[in-house]
Amino acid sequence: MPLDTKYLGLALKNPLVASASPLNSKIDNLRRLEDAGAAAIVLPSLFEEQIEADAERHHARIDAYAESSPEALTYFPAAASGPYGIGPERYLDLIRRGSEAVAIPIIASLNGSSKAGWIEYAKLVEEAGAAALELNMYHIPTNLAESGRDVETRYIEIVKAVCGSVGLPVSVKLTAYLSSIGHFAATLVENGAAGVVLFNRLLEPDIDVDKLSLTNILELSEPAELRLPLLWIAILSGRIPASLAASSGVATSNDVVKCLLAGADVVMTTSALLRHDIAYMAKLVQGLRLWMDEREIASLGEMRGMLSWQRSRDPGAYTRANYLRILERYAL
Ligand SMILES: Cc1cc2nc3c(=O)[nH]c(=O)nc-3n(C[C@H](O)[C@H](O)[C@H](O)COP(=O)(O)O)c2cc1C
Repeated sequence: MPLDTKYLGLALKNPLVASASPLNSKIDNLRRLEDAGAAAIVLPSLFEEQIEADAERHHARIDAYAESSPEALTYFPAAASGPYGIGPERYLDLIRRGSEAVAIPIIASLNGSSKAGWIEYAKLVEEAGAAALELNMYHIPTNLAESGRDVETRYIEIVKAVCGSVGLPVSVKLTAYLSSIGHFAATLVENGAAGVVLFNRLLEPDIDVDKLSLTNILELSEPAELRLPLLWIAILSGRIPASLAASSGVATSNDVVKCLLAGADVVMTTSALLRHDIAYMAKLVQGLRLWMDEREIASLGEMRGMLSWQRSRDPGAYTRANYLRILERYAL
């Protein structure tokens, strides 16, 4: 049974995408993901701050050595180490080598801090041969003078500038902490985005009460986290001319089915692969196929968006009406 689909204008053999994580920074893993059935792979993000920090360290080292000997300048390659130990040069090399190593699309991911930085690296990523670019928007507005509109305008300007500078399709990975996600997603699309990824996870620090300090432990996602992407995929499905990718909490093949029923074009997973290993991707694909076989569903098109807000017989199930119903039904 064909599971082929489209994402950001790219033809994919199925809707399963390995989302950004360091797992995807090794060529061998990219091959294993492809063998296990992944239809596309998002590389870990290249972070602008780390590039800048590296560049500063790099120049400081060059200056120090140059004082002792001019030939010492040639000791240093153009790039230094960066995100997850991968600097810009190695990142671009990962795109090049990854795209040669596998037949499935390699999607680069950027996390910039300045507009110029986003644009510069987007161009480099395109030159290196990425099939698409995911913008990892991760901003915590600690400035109390910054309004919701300011935050959105900042994102929109970056997306517009990047989309205007490169020819490859661009998706935006959003946090769910926005006041009107649907309107914002639609505005991103009007400004050039070919798709939105719902959602990135904020990694909030915890507090260690013994050490009186903050702790930063990355916990893998829990299945309950899927509800939020499901809700917003369902609300947006069929209503914006862009691809929808579900991300956060996809742990089983039933979760993949849920995302597609809500209206996702692709379903992304990271935590499940880190928990169970790369081969787990094959189980997700097989489970989807089995579910469709059992119900004699011949293509993804038949099931996609079947339970979206737009097509639902009970759209209230997604909104405030359901809030009251759920509260009333809670049995003490
Ligand atoms: C170890 C780890 C590293 C990650 N690195 C990135 C990253 O570089 N860029 C990014 O956009 N998301 C990153 N993510 C987020 C994932 O791509 C994904 O959106 C998130 O984990 C939710 O999906 P999941 O529930 O399938 O894990 C990372 C997640 C994990 C667990």
